Amino acid sequence: MSNPSLLILPGDGIGPEVMAEVRKVIDWFGANRGLTFDVSEDLVGGAAYDAHGTPLTDETMAKAQQVDAVLLGAVGGPKYDKLDFSVKPERGLLRLRKEMDLYANLRPAQCFDALADFSSMKKEIVSGLDIMIVRELTSGIYFGEPRGVFKDGNERVGLNTQRYTESEIARVARSAFELARKRSNKVCSMEKANVMESGVLWRDVVTEIHDAEYPDVELSHMYADAGAMQLTRWPKQFDVIVTDNLFGDMLSDLAAMLTGSLGMLPSASLGSPMENGRPKALYEPVHGSAPDIAGTGKANPCASILSFAMALRYSFDQGDEATRLEQAVEKVLADGVRTADLMQAGDGTPATTVEMGQAVIAALDASL
Ligand code: IPM
Ligand code: MG
Repeated sequence: MSNPSLLILPGDGIGPEVMAEVRKVIDWFGANRGLTFDVSEDLVGGAAYDAHGTPLTDETMAKAQQVDAVLLGAVGGPKYDKLDFSVKPERGLLRLRKEMDLYANLRPAQCFDALADFSSMKKEIVSGLDIMIVRELTSGIYFGEPRGVFKDGNERVGLNTQRYTESEIARVARSAFELARKRSNKVCSMEKANVMESGVLWRDVVTEIHDAEYPDVELSHMYADAGAMQLTRWPKQFDVIVTDNLFGDMLSDLAAMLTGSLGMLPSASLGSPMENGRPKALYEPVHGSAPDIAGTGKANPCASILSFAMALRYSFDQGDEATRLEQAVEKVLADGVRTADLMQAGDGTPATTVEMGQAVIAALDASL
């Protein structure tokens, strides 16, 4: 049987630096755990625009469809701010999500013990926090038609459309319930059913799927604005949160910040199973391209490394090896290794991106 395949798309800003460390981790699993991957690399985002005039070529799109998993760094940067909307770096990422039909975006917000002091929240509110946001990723107002900026009489009108079909809601609800069963068996669904018809349908369909297929899971509903408030008031009341594309975008940033360490958080975007039974999948850090620190060696590679751990778990059925990698990262933190984002002024000299990568490899060695 051939090796499983990975496509690495480092992208822009700090993307290439952090993905270089991920590559070393991938090689470690090949050398030490018999998990050998066929790895290829390609361009996405501004890097692809610079080379080809488009943030994602058709060839790269086709490759992404063929591999077992895509690992992405980050896209975007001020250099590309003035580009036409249709070729902005972000369009490359959105095309990958849409054409691979990656409808379930898993965004864990986990507070690492060693970092609880870093949160802007009181320690007792966030220590031990471990929630999973499941964001619908291929529909809603991000993709709904009609959309655009139009002329209407004497003025321009900006238009986007929030649109959800029953089946789109049902499939992401199932993803959330399935995950909940492997965690604390609790799902909170968030929408604005008080204001939006699409929210009314969302609530109905989530309830129907629950009652018919997952009656054992505890289900609650919250308006998304109240959800934001509850997330800051007492986030530990949540286990799995399922929500739409736009609310999920905002609530996941909020949840990420609760943990105090955006540089630590991974994500998985999953679609339907391919012929080999693996879900279509793209893994990426929650953080962006951080152009202000690109090339300085300050970037924290942990979020991308932990995204590869999610790949081991969700694409390659290697839950134990995923745990090994997650524990290696936790050990490094417990040992006091810190990149600049995990330090305050006066804390001493931060580890560089490469040093953090080396520390994770050393912890992996120690795990054998
Ligand atoms: C995210 C980002 C993206 C989004 C951007 C880069 C298109 O904010 O992954 O959360 O809005 O979905
Ligand atoms: Mg976002």
